Amino acid sequence: MADPVLTARRAISVPADALVLLVGAAGSGKSTFARRHFPDEASVSSDRFRGLLTGNEADQRVSQAAFELLHQAIGSRLEAGLLTVVDATNLDLLSRATPLDRARRSRRPALAIVFALPAEVCLRRNRTRPRVVRPAVVRRQSASLRHIRTDLEGEGYAAIHIFGSESDIQSAVVLLTPASELSEPARPPA
Ligand code: CTP
Ligand code: MG
Repeated sequence: MADPVLTARRAISVPADALVLLVGAAGSGKSTFARRHFPDEASVSSDRFRGLLTGNEADQRVSQAAFELLHQAIGSRLEAGLLTVVDATNLDLLSRATPLDRARRSRRPALAIVFALPAEVCLRRNRTRPRVVRPAVVRRQSASLRHIRTDLEGEGYAAIHIFGSESDIQSAVVLLTPASELSEPARPPA
């Protein structure tokens, strides 16, 4: 693989059987992007499973059960060759490890789409949402993006797309391509 890191100013090709990890702080626009560019049923998140289990997407008491269901859903969808978009912050290696492992086992390509917006943008958006994430948390999440390119490069993605501005996200085009264009499975970490 030459250079899998692409700035996201061009069309993002997504094989129909890929794992797509959305990566970004709370309020960076991951869910908005997923709604706009991917079929609803392809998006999975621990919040959704928390909501399914308790009626409240923010109910942290069922985190473990929610993550188990999330990982099962990711594994089943990838095994079946279905597009799987993980709509979570995905900022730490641990949160990415199981989805990546599922992609590797199913021999599906894994892509990362990173929403590297200034912390101020995320903070502003968070202030006007029903579910407010604490500013200190958003700042910490944004700060952790500083090394994200290097972090992701060693994890074996078929492509890494990094959005650095709101206009990059706004003008992004996602092309869903046939699964047969799948070139290689995710590599194990270096
Ligand atoms: N938003 C916006 N303009 C955009 C994208 C998002 O004003 N171009 C707003 C959304 O309407 C929402 C907030 O910003 O109220 C956060 O967007 P969302 O997509 O929900 O962000 P996520 O990254 O999914 O946040 P979280 O990790 O908390 O789910
Ligand atoms: Mg979201």
